[in-house]
Amino acid sequence: MMEDKFNAVSNTAKLKKRVFSGVQPSGDVQLGNYLGAFKQWVQGQQEKENFFCIVDMHALTVYQEPAKLLEQTKMLAALLFASGIDPNRSTLFVQSQVTAHAEACWILNCMTPIGWLERMTQYKDKSLNQERVSVGLLDYPVLMAGDILLYDTNEVPVGEDQKQHVELSRDIAQRFNRIYGDTFVIPEPVIPEVGARIMGLDNPLIKMSKSHAHIKGHAIRLLDDDKEIERTIKRAVTDSDNVIQFSREPEKAGVNNLLGIYKVITGRTINQVESDFQDARGYGDLKARVSEVVIEELQPIKKKYSEIMDDSSELDRLLIRGAERARSYADPKLMDIKERVGLVLPGNLVK
Ligand code: TYM
Repeated sequence: MMEDKFNAVSNTAKLKKRVFSGVQPSGDVQLGNYLGAFKQWVQGQQEKENFFCIVDMHALTVYQEPAKLLEQTKMLAALLFASGIDPNRSTLFVQSQVTAHAEACWILNCMTPIGWLERMTQYKDKSLNQERVSVGLLDYPVLMAGDILLYDTNEVPVGEDQKQHVELSRDIAQRFNRIYGDTFVIPEPVIPEVGARIMGLDNPLIKMSKSHAHIKGHAIRLLDDDKEIERTIKRAVTDSDNVIQFSREPEKAGVNNLLGIYKVITGRTINQVESDFQDARGYGDLKARVSEVVIEELQPIKKKYSEIMDDSSELDRLLIRGAERARSYADPKLMDIKERVGLVLPGNLVK
């Protein structure tokens, strides 16, 4: 039944824009991942042809306990389906199950200047004060370029922090096309207007992140219970002037962040959001209302998540099917790339 529906979708798919995006199964998925990425992915599913990838090989750029990595990969898949990724409209798969990604990365490595990678801000931040930095951490954006370019991707919906990496993918694609002829579609980053950068609740001057999600008060994790969410938002850092308005001033970053979270979840405009809080009696009211909408948003996701995890054989089946579909796009593309650079003789193609 599912198969038939998907085939019907893929027959018309060529007319649609193709979307690719990814998420690492490292650490606890937090509200920023959901509002900056997953929610957009889910909302765009109808009109586009979508590939969503759990990038376990990207997670390896920093040491991961093997059993935990595997567990987190499955949990993340369940969370994505629970958030509304529809297996009949979107292809969700695990990166390491489609070996074309690693092969494409190697070929692209060979034509990417090291200087391009050394100037990536995420690399600079992550390698700062580290005694040993892996080659993988530096090479991370090339693997990401491979992910995107293998699928002739038009759009890459990501949070603000990934924009520079998507731009690098464009540079790599353009360079490859110049050297070897027209091969790659040049992808566009798609960054949401609000929600592209959800900030830490304990420090609204730094981005909310999975790697800090275990620190008390920093993040709302998608699987936190209602009480925990309420407690974390109650403790969120704000300021002392009690003015509830959007603002770019650094000292208002906490309030701005809470309003941003409220805005993305409710889908209301800036004016509507500010008028919702006109009669609020201070930040206590603001925090209570933000907690309410966050809890309401996450409740059905948590419920669906537990249902999926209760019988994960269906999840395994969906991931196998997702990887098969992804391979049916990525493998022929890789063959094209290999032929262009002189690695495969035509007529010798693996089917
Ligand atoms: P990752 O796993 O760090 O994050 C997944 C997505 O969540 C977004 N995000 C945020 N958005 C708003 N506010 C935040 N505080 C916040 N934190 C994270 C990220 O921007 C991202 O969209 N390198 C990527 C994964 C990747 C990928 C790709 C993405 C690998 N290959 C190809 C797109 C296309 C990463 O580490 O995302």
